[in-house]
Amino acid sequence: MTTDTAPAPLAEPVLEASGVVMRFGGLTAVNQVDLTVRQGEIVGLIGPNGAGKTTFFNCLTGLYVPTEGTVTYKGRVLPPKPHLVTEAGIARTFQNIRLFSNMTVLENVLVGRHTRTKEGLFSAILRGPGYRRAEQESRERAMELLEFCGLAAKSEHLARNLPYGEQRKLEIARALASEPGLLLLDEPTAGMNPQETRAAEELVFAIRDLGIAVLVIEHDMKFIFNLCDRTAVLVQGQKIVEGDRETVQNDERVVAAYLGEPLEGTTTATEADQ
Ligand SMILES: Nc1ncnc2c1ncn2[C@@H]1O[C@H](COP(=O)(O)OP(=O)(O)O)[C@@H](O)[C@H]1O
Ligand SMILES: [Mg+2]
Repeated sequence: MTTDTAPAPLAEPVLEASGVVMRFGGLTAVNQVDLTVRQGEIVGLIGPNGAGKTTFFNCLTGLYVPTEGTVTYKGRVLPPKPHLVTEAGIARTFQNIRLFSNMTVLENVLVGRHTRTKEGLFSAILRGPGYRRAEQESRERAMELLEFCGLAAKSEHLARNLPYGEQRKLEIARALASEPGLLLLDEPTAGMNPQETRAAEELVFAIRDLGIAVLVIEHDMKFIFNLCDRTAVLVQGQKIVEGDRETVQNDERVVAAYLGEPLEGTTTATEADQ
């Protein structure tokens, strides 16, 4: 008997990326990458700066149309348009925080909900009972999400006045507002102190417990290996290895790729590389 709590290896795939290539002129930023994320999984994506991690996310979310390859979400090929990808069920956060800085915390989450609200423009103009009910429900749901992310007390603050770590949490709350089945996090702990990073870890576990699969890019190896069921390593656009902590840490290609960078423990200073 094993006490391993990792999900069964044959859980349904949520995301399947197959042979994804992204070229910019002569530069191949992502080169033949296959990656599967299954129901209930937290999967890590690591690699040195410039390895192609963010570009790969952009290929998954319709910001870029991959030069080659396919991406499916729950068995359906994704249309290469960000709003359609969000509608299909994939939400993301950005390496460089993208909030509406002059809107309140609550308003930022409400914006994230718009793909899921049925009330159209017409009823918004009329502001009839249907619209008011929908708006009320949206606010309640948004407040629940802020509660979940530990930001309820700040709901009326302007996003730009939040400390950095809380802005990152707000990005997660806004992403969750679109009711995703898969959440992509691009360096969610960049700029966080160790305490905030631990809280972020708990938050990601809680998100998984809601039934949302997670794919996370991070430089902080301690965070990645605490959290992830499986980690893939990108180096110069190629996935060189994928597996559990031991597999990744003992792979000599990984060690070589990280030569000169700490592989474990410390939060590496990640200059915003895009
Ligand atoms: N829109 C773009 N046009 C041209 N080159 C790009 C573009 N986006 C990313 N790149 C290049 O692709 C490579 C991978 O970048 P990126 O995906 O940001 O790496 P990572 O997130 O792993 O640090 C880098 O060499 C970067 O300069
Ligand atoms: Mg990046």
